[in-house]
Amino acid sequence: MKNHMLTLKLVLGLVLLQSPELSHASEQGQKLYQKKCTACHSISDNSNISLSQRLQEKAPTLYYAGNKFNAAWLEQWLAVPKRLRPGGHFFLNKVKVTEDGDLIDETKLVNHMTVQPKEAKQITQYLMLQTPKSDLIALEQVTLGKVNRTLGEKDFNKFKGCGSCHQDEDGYGGVSGPELYTAISRLKPNFIASYIRHPEKWDPKTLMPNRHLNDNSIKKLVNYLNVISE
Ligand code: HEC
Ligand code: HEC
Repeated sequence: MKNHMLTLKLVLGLVLLQSPELSHASEQGQKLYQKKCTACHSISDNSNISLSQRLQEKAPTLYYAGNKFNAAWLEQWLAVPKRLRPGGHFFLNKVKVTEDGDLIDETKLVNHMTVQPKEAKQITQYLMLQTPKSDLIALEQVTLGKVNRTLGEKDFNKFKGCGSCHQDEDGYGGVSGPELYTAISRLKPNFIASYIRHPEKWDPKTLMPNRHLNDNSIKKLVNYLNVISE
């Protein structure tokens, strides 16, 4: 009996060692996440989310955070967050229509909560374990390169129309999507390519249209984001 218990303990010990989700830091991170973040964020499967559920979301999904964010960016952003979506998570109720065009009603925007650097590290470890949709990531093979900035800008704004929803410079561009001038430090390159290729496979209720771009067009856009992120 004693021997059996010992074997059991050894086996359990090995299992514990081998499963990353049970590491101490990420376990602390999970507790912090549950306490501080679940009022607004979800990390559960978003595949079958209904439009009304999507519209009730208070914050972007963190379901596939581990396939989306660069860990170093995530850790520092959680401690010192900066606004990513100029019009907030849902821009419609925060935009004033004026004679000069759409204006963001700054009074309706709140700053993101902050956590201590140590907590940011633990939460990051936990969030980086959330890696569904890896099959989509595996379809991409981005190596970052460069494009001519002027041509890249024309392509982004004029030909592909990305600038009507995204900023490619602080204060310039659309407000309904997240800014993209820090995209390269924030997001994994393969995620960027994949989201441009088929946004609806990541977020079935996304507002971003699938433009059915080919590999070369996607590569040019990713390289433009690389150039402006410097
Ligand atoms: C009061 C609601 C609220 C709480 C609580 C909250 N968040 Fe957020 N979070 C938001 C909103 C709104 C955004 C979108 C901000 C933006 O785009 O500028 C956001 C954005 C984010 C992003 C970027 C997501 C993306 O896809 O761009 C991350 C990562 C994040 N939050 C993590 C956390 C973590 C971790 C916690 C808990 C420590 C937390 N948030 C707590 C509302 C919240
Ligand atoms: C009609 C508006 C619209 C257009 C046009 C559009 N997007 Fe988006 N885009 C969005 C929205 C909305 C999201 C998702 C926002 C969210 O998760 O809150 C998004 C997300 C993204 C993301 C992921 C960023 C992140 O932080 O989550 C990338 C990369 C991106 N778009 C690139 C592009 C590129 C490149 C183009 C041009 C080919 C483009 N988008 C055109 C609205 C748009």
